[in-house]
This record gives sequence, structure tokens and C-alpha cells, in this order.
Amino acid sequence: LNYNVTRDRRFILEILFNGLRRLEYRGYDSAGISIDSSDPNRQFSDSAPSPLIFRQEGNIESLVKSVYKDVASIELNLEEPFAVHAGIAHTRWATHGEPSPKNSHPQTSGAGNEFLVVHNGVITNYEVLKETLIRHGFNFESDTDTEVIPKLAKYVFDKANEEGEQTVTFSQVVLEVMRHLEGAYALIFKSPHYPNELIACKRGSPLLLGVKELSEDMGRGASFLDLKFISENGHPKEFFLSSDASAVVEHTKKVLVIEDSEVVHLKDGGVSILKFESDKGKHSSALSGPSSVQRALSFLEMEVEQMNKGHYEHYMQKEIHEQPESLTTTMRGRLKHGGSCKAKTVLLGGLKDHIKTIRRSRRIVFIGCGTSYNAALAARPIIEELSGVPVTMEIASDLVDRQGPIYREDTAVFVSQSGETADTLLALEYALENGALCVGITNTVGSAIARKTHCGIHINAGCEIGVASTKAYTSQIVVMVMLALAIGDDAISSRARREAIIDGLFDLPNKVREVLKLDQEMKDLAKLLIAEQSLLVFGRGYNFATALEGALKVKEVSLMHSEGILAGEMKHGPLALVDENLPIIVIATRDACFSKQQSVIQQLHARKGRLIVVCSKGDATSVCPGGSCRVIEVPQVEDCLQPVVNVIPLQLLAYHLTVLRGYNVDQPRNLAKSVTTQ
Ligand code: G6P
Repeated sequence: LNYNVTRDRRFILEILFNGLRRLEYRGYDSAGISIDSSDPNRQFSDSAPSPLIFRQEGNIESLVKSVYKDVASIELNLEEPFAVHAGIAHTRWATHGEPSPKNSHPQTSGAGNEFLVVHNGVITNYEVLKETLIRHGFNFESDTDTEVIPKLAKYVFDKANEEGEQTVTFSQVVLEVMRHLEGAYALIFKSPHYPNELIACKRGSPLLLGVKELSEDMGRGASFLDLKFISENGHPKEFFLSSDASAVVEHTKKVLVIEDSEVVHLKDGGVSILKFESDKGKHSSALSGPSSVQRALSFLEMEVEQMNKGHYEHYMQKEIHEQPESLTTTMRGRLKHGGSCKAKTVLLGGLKDHIKTIRRSRRIVFIGCGTSYNAALAARPIIEELSGVPVTMEIASDLVDRQGPIYREDTAVFVSQSGETADTLLALEYALENGALCVGITNTVGSAIARKTHCGIHINAGCEIGVASTKAYTSQIVVMVMLALAIGDDAISSRARREAIIDGLFDLPNKVREVLKLDQEMKDLAKLLIAEQSLLVFGRGYNFATALEGALKVKEVSLMHSEGILAGEMKHGPLALVDENLPIIVIATRDACFSKQQSVIQQLHARKGRLIVVCSKGDATSVCPGGSCRVIEVPQVEDCLQPVVNVIPLQLLAYHLTVLRGYNVDQPRNLAKSVTTQ
């Protein structure tokens, strides 16, 4: 939304399209956009003309093409200037209703597009609302839960007008709508009844507001800014509302993280924020007029360049290859090598006031989903070893489903790249209710998990855009190894072990650089496996997680069935699958489990298994006596860091398999990077 500086229609469209491109990793099955029309023939009342809506199945580029085609066909002037314009756009990951134009957002109140809504989340009581609205004469066109929202807005607006409340404001309409919504949402409303205004609100799903002053830099030093100041000082400005910072950072680094139950009102170049008091069942100051609030304005640390592919073809490829650098950033300032007392230690600033409590916990519970869960599993043995505290693992949705026991004496560690995964957030709320100390490990400063936990560690891996997590995984492991070192820091008996790990951490980026040289070898292996139906990955100990994560990478991007198996369980079922055709990867690098893995290899070999073995450099003959298997040699590191090195050939394999099989590596079928719905 702009004020006092004219922008043409093409500029506005491009801003919205670029924003969608940045957010595409959150969902990419369909997309939509709404901009203003100035066509008097589209006038449906004495307010502004009905806004234009374009919706398209497929990715953002299909939307872009169709919009420009449609714009040309309705002879819309792309050079038309606007001093103020409020546009909205959305990229979708389907929950209710298949990907199709009618189910894409913006969803509308009906003919005339009197109320338009884009939504991230799920409205759980939409069926009841829909029935009620149908009884009031509304016709529904989509299969979405979202459609009830704009229709409810129109119902509220019409009712207020019938009752003579001519002055009903946009925020009053939205506050009344919110009162009826259950579930999780971040919403943006647009309406020709309120031209040049937008309302956004949220509960559960993430939302932030970027503020860009067009003529005078507000200065980085201003960490607290009065919204009234932003609203009333005369500078022209643009505001950006988005589910995450990646769509905003190229315009401004100054953002407000919107809290649950808040309503953001953009109007005439100004902004106000109201709080919806849901627990009291009524709206607060909205009815008596908007009040400005003092809020923290955060400064985004991310750089636009981080979000480009550089010289790589795909984000996943770039993110795999930048792991030496991302790991260095993760460790920066946190490892102390020597010093006056010559002690090698770890400093985790975000935990300094809580480390004693963690040490004294009755147990440490790791909670996460997908790759983040696997990272915690990789770190579990070293945390148990160095802390002596029992560690249990929970998949977030399962903990919530079971309402599993969480106690005040527990430390619950929430691991999430995005910091916004709905299942993990729900588990966090549950652990908070049960009184546990909650620690967050995320890659997203200002994310819900970072904000709601008592303390935490940012992994600082840099922006990860490929839907399949790679560099965040290895940084998460390193952070949790550092966590183990920090918890165990008071034990004299393990000092030598801790110092060896710290030395290993210092050298880890070099070892990762070395293992990345396997790129071509993994591409050759991918060529061999290109037409396979299935792939098994066996691991144990530190590398059970590597087996799970390697298999997850292969299945999620290359769409080849793949399963990670705990090698200790091989005899109890999986062995039945083994024949001379099914490819099997066995992780058998040097650690306490090495001899057991050697015997697993023998047993698989005896059944003519088609083996690919990941082993430590120089171990080819020890792991493959008859020379009958394919061997991938990786550099040896400290046992607890070995999962970081071992997963990389598997990431490369998944990447090359996907490209060779002709699938979209950065946007795997049906998946999304941040799953902010349950
Ligand atoms: C989705 C992504 C996975 C990710 C998981 C957990 O399923 O596709 O790559 O591992 O969510 O995400 P989080 O952001 O909580 O780590």
C-alpha cells in the first residue's frame, strides 16, 4: 500500500508476483491475486469499482501468464498510475478442496467481490458457519473452508447497514468475523467498500508487517517505533503483509511480528493495530475507534542474496553445497578454543540462564517433525552420554494425539527449521501448559516457536528455500551436539571427550567440503538407480537417523519409495525383502557399532543383497570383503559428528535421482516447506 508516490499497475502486479515467488515454497498447487480496477462499468455501488480477481491452478508462473493474458483481453492499462493501492495475493497448499481456480484464493463474498480474503490456516468450524450462511441465502462456489470468511464479512457488513450503523468500519467488520472463527488463520481482507484499505489478522498462523519509508530511512537504530509515528509522519510509505520475511526483505528489513488475535488496519498510508479479546467474547477498543500501540519493530538479519540460487540450478543443490559455510555460521562465536584457562568450551548465549535447570531435569524430551525430528534423533546419543539425563523422542503430532506425559521436571526441546510447524507449535503449547522448561531450536528468528519457548538456540543456517531440508538438518545436529557439550560442561570425567568433539567441530566444515567432492560419484550412482521402485537404507547408533533422513530425502524429492531401517531390526522383518534386485544402502562408518554393521553386511551378502556401503575412508575392503558391493568412502570424524558427514552423499543421491527422473527438486509433489496447518 502506497501513499503519495504514484506507482503504475504493472509495478503493483510485479510486487505481488515477486512476493508470491518468494513464498512459493510454502505451497504451490494454485495461486491467485486481486488488484483494483478503475473501470466505471465494474461499479456495483457508490463505492469503488469491484476489484479484479485472477486465480489459476499450478505454480506462480502459470498465474503470472494468465494475469497478463487476461489483463490484455480486458484492455486494462498497465501504465495506469495509483497514488494508493491495496493488492492481495496468495499461493496455496490445498487442505479443503482440490487445486483449481475456484478453490484458489482470494475467496470472495460473491458477485461484486464485496469482500475478498486470502487465508493461511484451517477454519475448523467452517461447516457450521457454512450451513448458517446458506440459510441466510448465500451460495457457495468452492470446496474450501476459507469461503465462509468473506461471506461472513458480507453478512456482518449488510446487517450493520440494515441496522443503521452506516459508519461500520472495516476493522469492526473483521473483528466481528473473527469472533465466529475457530481454528488457525492468518487472513488479509480487501473490500471495495473500504477502498485503499487492508485488514489483516491472525490466530495461530504466522503473519508479519513490513514497513518501508519511501523518502526517509527510519534508521536501523530505531528498535521501538510508535505506530502513530509511522502513521502520521508525512513520508510516503509502502506496507507489506506476509506469512514470512522472505517476501518482505527485498523491500524493507523493518518488520513487526503480528501477535495472535491482533488486527492490523492499513488505511491512507497509516497503520493501526487492535487487539481482539477473544477470551472475553467481545472486541476491545475497535468500537470506540482505533488506538495506536507501541510495538517492537524488528530488524531482519537476512539478505536478499541468500534467497537467490547463485550459480546453482536448484535451491536444494545450492543448499547442499553451501553446508561448509552454513555450519561455520552455526558455530560462529559459540566455540571457545583455549583462552586463559586453556579450556575448550561452548557458549550458548540463549541458554545461559537455563543450563543448570536443563542439567537437573528429570528427562529431556525432543519434539519435532520430519527432518527436524531426525536431527534430534542423530544428537540423542551424545546428549545422553554427556548429560547423563534420559532423552526421549516425540514426533510432535503423536505427542499431542496421545496427550503423552510431560512433567514440570522435564526439559522439552522443540526442533523446527521454520519455527512455525503447526504440529510442533501445538506440542509446545501442550508442554507449556504442563509446566516443562521449553527450549526452541529454530532457523527463524522471530518465529512462533522462537517466541513462545522459554529460551533457545538459533541454528543460523541462513534462509533455506528448497522444500527438502538439507543444510538446516546438519546445522540442527551441530547445535544439538553443542547443547550436549554445554549440558555436560561441569563433568570433569568427560572433559577429554568434550575437547575432542570441539576439535572435531572446528574441523567439520573442511570434512564436509571433502565429502561434497562425491557429487559426481553420487550422480553416477543415481544413474544406476534411476528406474528402481524402492531403496532401503540401514543404519544404527548415531546413524539410525542418517538412514531415516537419507530415505526421507530420496522419497520426498525423487518420489522413489525408500525406507530407513534400524539395522538391529533387520532380522525381525526387513530381511524378507532382500533379494538380488532391491538396492540397499548400509551405513557402516567407524564407531562403536562398526563390527555389528560388518555382520549385517555379511548377512545381507549371504542373501545376495544388492549392497551400497557408506564407510570410512580406507575401509572399503573391511566392509566389502568379496568386492561385490559398491562402496562410498567418506571422511571419518568424531562419532557424534559422523551423521553430518554421512548424510551428505545421501542428500546428493536424492538430488541427482530427482533431476534425472525429471521431477521438480525444489517443489516436490504435494509437499510444502512450512506446514502451518494441522
Ligand atoms: C515439512 C517439510 C519438511 C520438514 C518438516 C518440519 O514436512 O517438508 O522438510 O522437515 O515440515 O518442518 P520444521 O520447519 O518444523 O523443521
